[in-house]
Amino acid sequence: MMTIHQLHKPGAAAALPDHADLTIKIVENEDERFKAMLVRAIVYMHEQLCPYSEEFDLNDHAATQIVGLTATGEPVLTARLRYFNGFAKIERLAIRKEYRGLGYAHRLLSFLLDLGRTKGFSHFYLHAQARLRGFYEGYGFRPVGSAFSFSDHDYIEMELSEQPQLVSPSMHIGSTPMVLNRPENSTQLLGPLEHGAFRSAKRIAATERSRG
Ligand SMILES: CC(C)(COP(=O)(O)OP(=O)(O)OC[C@H]1O[C@@H](n2cnc3c(N)ncnc32)[C@H](O)[C@@H]1OP(=O)(O)O)[C@@H](O)C(=O)NCCC(=O)NCCS
Repeated sequence: MMTIHQLHKPGAAAALPDHADLTIKIVENEDERFKAMLVRAIVYMHEQLCPYSEEFDLNDHAATQIVGLTATGEPVLTARLRYFNGFAKIERLAIRKEYRGLGYAHRLLSFLLDLGRTKGFSHFYLHAQARLRGFYEGYGFRPVGSAFSFSDHDYIEMELSEQPQLVSPSMHIGSTPMVLNRPENSTQLLGPLEHGAFRSAKRIAATERSRG
């Protein structure tokens, strides 16, 4: 299933037991949503002193929320992805201080890009804190527009344009119709409506048999 990434940094797990088996996934329920929002609050409100009104907004209901959890369910990281005409926007990337320097930001960004690609996006956009420009450039992002500030931090607009032909979305018009009905967290697997379709097919076959 594409929503699960396993820890890749050798040695980190041995030194910090609860860091083992980090799972990065789409938020699926209220508990995971709560954990994602807590990480955001800890990092932005507590650490970066941003007011609540600037960190949480209506867009939280329109976004795909991401959470990273240890094997014991401890919340580690979060981000959200929003979709526009022709591009996906990466937002609210945050990792709790005690889990930094372990490469989790690389895993989180890769997860977000893979998620967008699966949905057919080859164009990504974000507002990067200026100090992180090099991190995003490592993934092919380029600065666009001019620098600006909000919530007491300096930002630059950055975008990543990939060759559309290199992105082969599993979900597109023209794919098997039921593929587009699949839940966002398991687009590679048969969804409930596909199982439902098998059930309908069996019922139709049984009815036809009983008719004779
Ligand atoms: C930004 C953040 C997600 C990075 O987390 P992390 O655990 O340090 O990230 P990683 O260990 O995976 O390192 C990823 C890269 O981030 C960059 N990076 C991390 N902290 C940095 C800093 N303070 N200054 C410059 N670059 C930094 C490095 O380029 C690093 O690349 P490397 O592994 O090749 O050296 C984390 O510091 C955080 O949550 N900060 C507060 C919230 C925030 O600023 N979010 C970003 C908004 S654009």
